[in-house]
Amino acid sequence: MSAAAVRPADPLEAVPLPPPPELVVSLAGASAEQQSRLERYAGLLAGPGVERGLLGPREAERVWPRHLLNCAALAELLEPGQTVLDLGSGAGLPGVVLAVLRPDVTVVLVEPLLRRALFLEQVVEALELRGTLVRRSRAEELAGRLLVDVVTARAVAPLPRLAGWALPLLHPGGRLLALKGDRADSELDQTRPLLAGLGACEGVVVDVGSGPTLARVAVLTRSPRAAS
Ligand SMILES: C[S@@+](CC[C@H](N)C(=O)[O-])C[C@H]1O[C@@H](n2cnc3c(N)ncnc32)[C@H](O)[C@@H]1O
Repeated sequence: MSAAAVRPADPLEAVPLPPPPELVVSLAGASAEQQSRLERYAGLLAGPGVERGLLGPREAERVWPRHLLNCAALAELLEPGQTVLDLGSGAGLPGVVLAVLRPDVTVVLVEPLLRRALFLEQVVEALELRGTLVRRSRAEELAGRLLVDVVTARAVAPLPRLAGWALPLLHPGGRLLALKGDRADSELDQTRPLLAGLGACEGVVVDVGSGPTLARVAVLTRSPRAAS
């Protein structure tokens, strides 16, 4: 399968799903327009996303705490104007959340499975996410064809394998942000012996967000001297 733009999909109606009242405060930094987009995205995940089997049926009621707010925390790690590749985006997590909260960055949603890539295309259109692209591809197929500032990933692969896929896609000095939760430290320990060979100069675990948005992220940095 080659890296390919996905064909235009039929429009999808986005019925807003607001956050539970106790979580509204966690969105304090979002503008009214961003909040509206996130609510429509939540509706797409809990509706067509679940109907098409992209999310499990039990996920509909925890779309906000388990998915959107967890991913929102990554937004603070991005710098203005960066290009962000969301690897194994699935139904758009964390890439779509980042595209909504950080319209100053360009987001590329990479997903190999057609069914998921078509959903992503429909989400981008329904939420009018200008500057967000969908590529139907496996990570390995993009090496040597695409270089970005940041790769994000959640629930895609153990860190040693993920690092092997992501680091070749990064500019020198670029960063992999892997949402790992409780497994961040142990997976980073397993990855450390591989870092130099993969062209990474640093690996750390950082906590971002707070309360319901708290996320534990493994951050690998591609060496500034790595050949691009
Ligand atoms: C468990 S899902 C996670 C989806 C999303 N990131 C999330 O957190 O909900 C893993 C995703 O990674 C994708 N994937 C698996 N192998 C991949 C590869 N080699 N390159 C890119 N994506 C891959 C799968 O198709 C799937 O959509």
